[in-house]
Amino acid sequence: MPDFEWDPETYQALMAEEIPDYPRLQTEVAAAAAAGAPKSILDLGVGSGLTAQRVLDALPEAGLLGIDASPEMLAAEVTLDPERTELRLGRLEDPLPRGPFDLVMSTLAVHHLDGPGKADLFARIAAVLDSAGRFVLGDLVVPADPADIVTPIDWIDDTPSSLDEQLTWLAEAGLTTRVHWQHRDLAVIIAQKD
Ligand SMILES: C[S@@+](CC[C@H](N)C(=O)[O-])C[C@H]1O[C@@H](n2cnc3c(N)ncnc32)[C@H](O)[C@@H]1O
Repeated sequence: MPDFEWDPETYQALMAEEIPDYPRLQTEVAAAAAAGAPKSILDLGVGSGLTAQRVLDALPEAGLLGIDASPEMLAAEVTLDPERTELRLGRLEDPLPRGPFDLVMSTLAVHHLDGPGKADLFARIAAVLDSAGRFVLGDLVVPADPADIVTPIDWIDDTPSSLDEQLTWLAEAGLTTRVHWQHRDLAVIIAQKD
């Protein structure tokens, strides 16, 4: 995994500067996640829990297991209800918790994996989804038109893929996909296990 160190103290300022549509992305992830009223949720790259909080607010019956590779980001989590939340230090590249989960979600974390890493993760996500579960991916994509690039990409820590590549890998994992929302270099994909 790349060496970039997340700092929860500067995280929100960094988001506001580099991803001005982060609040809208969170809104769209929460809307896509809430459909179907999932009860068991796995959040990959939960960070300090900002998007997880939005999802749990929309789903008062749900419990969430969050995984992140940054101890600092996990330690900064202060708003998630401990009765409904478990946080674990872990990498997206490592074996996933067995589940099954009604919902697997990930916001702005999967683009840190390269193409084969994303395809591998999508297959492992499909394996831990319940039979009617869904994966909601909100992330950076490489837009078809370079004029739509908003977020600075260093191609070291950030290795986004195109929307089409990710839809292909999700289909290869056996999931039925639909683009819930896209704006410039951000997208929310719903991948359903039928
Ligand atoms: C931009 S933040 C997003 C945090 C959270 N999902 C949100 O929406 O606020 C990206 C998070 O992904 C985590 N991350 C990046 N690469 C990871 C990996 N390979 N395994 C686990 N976590 C990773 C980082 O530690 C960081 O907390």
